[in-house]
Amino acid sequence: MKIIYAKDYSDLSRKAANIISAQVILKPNSVLGLATGSTPIGTYKQLIEWYEKGDIDFSVARSVNLDEYVGINSDNEQSYRYFMDTHLFSHINIKRENTYVPSGKAVDLQEECKAYDDLIQKVGGIDMQLLGIGHNGHIGFNEPDQAFEKTTHIVELGDTTISANARFFDSIEEVPRKAITMGIKSIMQAQKILLIANGKDKEEIINKALNGPVTPAIPASILQLHPDLTVICSFES
Ligand code: F6R
Repeated sequence: MKIIYAKDYSDLSRKAANIISAQVILKPNSVLGLATGSTPIGTYKQLIEWYEKGDIDFSVARSVNLDEYVGINSDNEQSYRYFMDTHLFSHINIKRENTYVPSGKAVDLQEECKAYDDLIQKVGGIDMQLLGIGHNGHIGFNEPDQAFEKTTHIVELGDTTISANARFFDSIEEVPRKAITMGIKSIMQAQKILLIANGKDKEEIINKALNGPVTPAIPASILQLHPDLTVICSFES
């Protein structure tokens, strides 16, 4: 495990973007596992800037996102598909048909979970997975539990997650109670994992996840067992 302490959020974002762009330069058809949330926004901005300068080409890159809310249409501003389009995809030359986000509106959600796992296999697995971390240690929407859920599944969001995500909605009541998320096995099978954490409020959970026991009560703790994990954190704000 490599831990990099960034000076501040913009330093964190540049460092993360550097690692992702190196991945795409070295393997142009990389499968990038991507995350939403506040933390990766700066990384995506930096990648867009370098794309505009001609430094990175995403024309044959592919992406699979970690998760999506259940019950929300992809054109809804709160959906993770909308987030990815707005913060990254519509600004770079990745082909839309090469970007995958699970559907939270599938008629048969169990079938969608299975189809998403099949898709990850079909594209050859994830080359580099970008992750944020929740205050309760969740990765993707793998919430604290009795056991690690291996495959893509439907999850009931915990109260901490609902409260944390309420900032993106008009009221807490509007936050969906369920989500579809990639499982721990697909995340752990990524060739490389890049975990980013920003802010003083993430320091405690990062310490627990990286230095404490590996337990499904802190899903991110499993990352200690990954052979190629890089963590970039800034606890400045
Ligand atoms: C989002 C996701 C979540 C976030 C986590 C941290 O796709 O997978 O696990 O990474 O909730 O969110 P922020 O970055 O908003 O603190």
